[in-house]
Amino acid sequence: MGLQRLDKVLADLGIGSRKELKELIRAGRVRIDGMVCLKPEQKLDPERQTLTLDGKELGYKGLRYFMMDKPAGVVTATEDRSQKTVLDLLPEELRRLGLFPVGRLDKDTSGLLLLTNDGDFAHRVISPKSCVEKRYYADIDGDVTEEDAAAFAAGLTLRDGTQCLPAGLERLGAGKCLVTVTEGKYHQVKRMLASRGKPVLALRRLSIGTLVLDEGLGPGGLRELDEMDLCKLFSGEIGEN
Ligand code: URA
Repeated sequence: MGLQRLDKVLADLGIGSRKELKELIRAGRVRIDGMVCLKPEQKLDPERQTLTLDGKELGYKGLRYFMMDKPAGVVTATEDRSQKTVLDLLPEELRRLGLFPVGRLDKDTSGLLLLTNDGDFAHRVISPKSCVEKRYYADIDGDVTEEDAAAFAAGLTLRDGTQCLPAGLERLGAGKCLVTVTEGKYHQVKRMLASRGKPVLALRRLSIGTLVLDEGLGPGGLRELDEMDLCKLFSGEIGEN
């Protein structure tokens, strides 16, 4: 990686905007190898030198992980010619991190979406071999029955012949249910419920593994994940990946 400007290293870490970083540095809050550095243009090797902000070490984390409460109406993509994407919702300082969405939620689906720049991690979350459970809340036209739940548990065959892995279906009340799947086929939950004659009216992802969407984030809200959160993603994992 070699030598880089201090303000660029801090910006890459998503600490703040260039202007905010200049102020932090000029206020003497940043140290390189224990020495206060007042120059934003100072060069350092972030992989070899120790960087602190207010005495707290900033590990040079190239790999970053976030949860977003994806609002309905934006597409799960890194770019799109005409439609707003989930990346358009990121604050300026996080746009340079090379984040991409882990898996896909439909444009009209809301809820828990992971964003990262770690391709191996994304693959592990998405792969059905990892058996990571994704749980959705659905409003449906109709009401689920015990027969529907049994069909989900046995592994549904969709209308086009696609075979699904066994999945969970729980009735919450009239026209409301929870669906738990370990794979992510195209429009999977909608197609599963449609195959039982219960079209989805609204869909929201609530959790992945035992990592639950922070409902306090609000539509488009974002929170960085820590190690505990990452462990929760794979805590129910069984088998090899
Ligand atoms: N299943 C769907 O049908 N849509 C989603 O967005 C996610 C899962």
